[in-house]
Amino acid sequence: MLDTLEAIYQESLAALRDAASSAELEAWRQATLGRKGSVQLQTRRLGELPTEERPAFGRRVNEIKQALQQAYEEQAARLRAQDLEAQMASEAIDVTLPGRKPWRGRLHPATQTLRQIYRIWGDMGFQIYRSRDVETDEYNFELLNIPQHHPARDMWDTFHTTEPGVLLRTHTSPGQIRAMHEYYPEPIRLIVPGMCYRYEQQTARSEFQFNQVEGLAVGKNITLADLKGTLAEFARRMYGADRAIRFRANYFPFTEPSAEMDVYFGLETEYDRRLTKGTGWLEILGCGMVHPTVLRNGGYDPEIYSGFAFGMGPERIAMAKYGIEDIRYFWSNDLRFLEQF
Ligand code: PHE
Repeated sequence: MLDTLEAIYQESLAALRDAASSAELEAWRQATLGRKGSVQLQTRRLGELPTEERPAFGRRVNEIKQALQQAYEEQAARLRAQDLEAQMASEAIDVTLPGRKPWRGRLHPATQTLRQIYRIWGDMGFQIYRSRDVETDEYNFELLNIPQHHPARDMWDTFHTTEPGVLLRTHTSPGQIRAMHEYYPEPIRLIVPGMCYRYEQQTARSEFQFNQVEGLAVGKNITLADLKGTLAEFARRMYGADRAIRFRANYFPFTEPSAEMDVYFGLETEYDRRLTKGTGWLEILGCGMVHPTVLRNGGYDPEIYSGFAFGMGPERIAMAKYGIEDIRYFWSNDLRFLEQF
C-alpha cells in the first residue's frame, strides 16, 4: 500500500508540472488534493492496514499532502507570473514611437479677413452691428434714396423672394437705416458685416454671394476729410504703410459726394492685368458722405448732423492681401485652396 501511495505521489508531481493554465491547475487540485482526490482517498484506506503500520502510513500521507500542497502553490505562482508576462507583452506600448498628429481645422480665409477687419475697426472705436440678410425693398432701396424704377437700381441685380417686396439684401447699406432708427439721437460709429447676394454673372472679380462690411459714422461736424483719413488709416493697418491706395470719384444714390477706394495690386502678370482690368488697382470699397435724404430717413436732421459711410468687400480685401486670383475660390469649398490659409 505504501508503494501505491508513493506511486500516486510521483504521478501527481509529474501531472502538476504539466498543468499549463489556471484551469488545468484547478482540475489537478480537485483530482489530487480534493475531498475525493487520489491522495485523500489513500487516507480512507488506513483501516485496511494492520494497527502497527497505521501511524507510519498516516504520517507519510500527511507529508505527501503537504509536499503536494507546496508544489501546487509554487506552480500557481509560476503560472500567475507567466500570465502577467504574456499580458504585458501583448499590451506593450512603444512610447518611443512618434505621435500621430491630430488633424486641426482652421478658419475660412473670409472669416480670418473679417476678424482682422473687426479688430482694426474695433481699435478705431467702431462697434459691430448685425443686420438681417432678408430685407424689404423699403430698407434695401427706398430709404437709401433709390426709388422704384430709378435707373440706379441696375447697380444691384436682386434675388427676390416669392413674397412681394421681400428680397435678399444686395448690400449691407440697409443696416445704416436700421442702426440710425435704433440709435437716434446718439452719435454713431459702427460696422455692419454680413453676406450680400446679387443676381449676376460670376466672374473672377464678383460672386453672387459675398461678404460686405458696411461702415457708418454719424455725428456733428463729420467731414469728407474724416472719411478719407479714416479709410486711409484702415488701409495702413490692413496692408502696411507702403501700400498705395487711391480714391476715385463715383456715384451712389445714398452718398454725396461718393467715391471708391482702390488698393494697388500689381501689373506684373497676365493674371494681375485680368483681375485689375489692366489698371493694376483693385477696388475694395465704395464710400461717401451720407446723403441728406438718407440721414433724414434714419431720423437724423441733416441740418445738424452729418456722417460718412462705406461698404467694403472682405473677399476683395483678402484677394489684394494674399494675391488670390479668383473670388470664386472662396465659396467653392475646395480644400486645396482653403488649406493654404
Ligand atoms: N452699398 C454700396 C455697394 O454695395 C457700397 C457703399 C456703401 C457705398 C456705403 C457708399 C457708402 O456697392
